[in-house]
Amino acid sequence: MDRITKAARLMIVSDLDHTMVDHHDPENMSLLRFNALWEANYRHDSLLVFSTGRSPILYKQLRKEKPMLTPDITIMSVGTEITYGDLMLPDDGWVEILNQKWDRNVVTEETSKFPELTLQAETEQRPHKVSFYVDKTKAQVVMKELSDRLKKRGLDVKIIYSGGMDLDILPQGAGKGQALAYLLKKFKNEGIPPVNTLACGDSGNDAELFSIPDVYGVMVSNAQEELLQWHAENAKDNPNVIHAKERCAAGIIEAIGHFKLGSNSSPRDFADFVECKVDHVNPGYEVVKFYLFYERWRRGDTDNCETYISSLKASCDPSAIVVFPSGVEKTLHECMHTLKVHYGDQKGKPFRVWVDRVLSTPIGSSTWLVKFDKWELAGDERCCCVITAKINVKGSGGSDGYTWANVQQKWLEGYEKKDDSTWLF
Ligand code: GLC
Ligand code: MG
Repeated sequence: MDRITKAARLMIVSDLDHTMVDHHDPENMSLLRFNALWEANYRHDSLLVFSTGRSPILYKQLRKEKPMLTPDITIMSVGTEITYGDLMLPDDGWVEILNQKWDRNVVTEETSKFPELTLQAETEQRPHKVSFYVDKTKAQVVMKELSDRLKKRGLDVKIIYSGGMDLDILPQGAGKGQALAYLLKKFKNEGIPPVNTLACGDSGNDAELFSIPDVYGVMVSNAQEELLQWHAENAKDNPNVIHAKERCAAGIIEAIGHFKLGSNSSPRDFADFVECKVDHVNPGYEVVKFYLFYERWRRGDTDNCETYISSLKASCDPSAIVVFPSGVEKTLHECMHTLKVHYGDQKGKPFRVWVDRVLSTPIGSSTWLVKFDKWELAGDERCCCVITAKINVKGSGGSDGYTWANVQQKWLEGYEKKDDSTWLF
């Protein structure tokens, strides 16, 4: 929680599968658009919270498969596990609350009497979550009967049906909505309640998110029947909850615009960045823009190459040095020259670049120390460098842009590039 010292301008609390992550989009375009928007506009003063049904193991697996950002807070196992920061430090206070009126053994004993229930994988059985699959046609009856039985055994549980197949049993005080309410209360007690909160989801276990007071909500266009039905019965007159026209992360961007929560211009949507609206010019925006230039250059997605490369050169300090992960040093201008030769070398290939965890610290009146992760997907190889750059402000407040001074790169452990001759910047 160290990073969280000020009230967030926007706190996004988003489900992952079929909300932030579109499993029907192999190119991950809406996710990449969201990432660029977040790092350019929100990372420096807002909070990103992922709230997933997945256990920590399956969550980490998804992060390896998809170009996901690192959230500030991760809520896993349907609101039963809350962790903070990159290190995912657990919230022990939450665990204590969940222990009330909960006895896992009684739950497994009673559920074993239902042949309609098929136990999910071992990884998805958690201290405060017991999960099954159940057929759509049988779900309602089973849930009712199970709830009666557990009540008789003195337990106070919550049974949630999601995705037309998953049945989760949790302590009554758990769930995505309760976990969000807990976080909001915690921030309020610390005197830093978020200015705006936006909850995003697509299935049954997300319904609770939309009944927490003072929270905007978006059900993405591809939301499941069970969520739409819940909405029709419980929240259809609430103007703060919308059913987006767009799928997944594009629906989240749509909601940011709809509720006027800040800029909804993703730099990825602009061929010419001059038209892209930012709430506050900040070094994060420069980093996102720079690497988008770089991606488009290597994909050969740009015309007007000379103007393009000279605008890149204009944002580089002539004396700047880049230290590569191998320890090799080059001037930034040399790097630009190499880049020039690699125009379109990734054309037609699945080549994408995105940045994560952009963190800027001012050093002096017109210089920033900017640390971030640069990810590069080329074919099926995914590499990442942790980069520290000194970035100078041109003119006043960055409105005239920035220039890159020194850049230091280090491989992120486990994501080294095998053949680093094509790692250009
Ligand atoms: C995720 C979890 C699963 C859970 C489902 C719905 O898929 O892995 O255990 O049942 O979300 O909450
Ligand atoms: Mg989902």
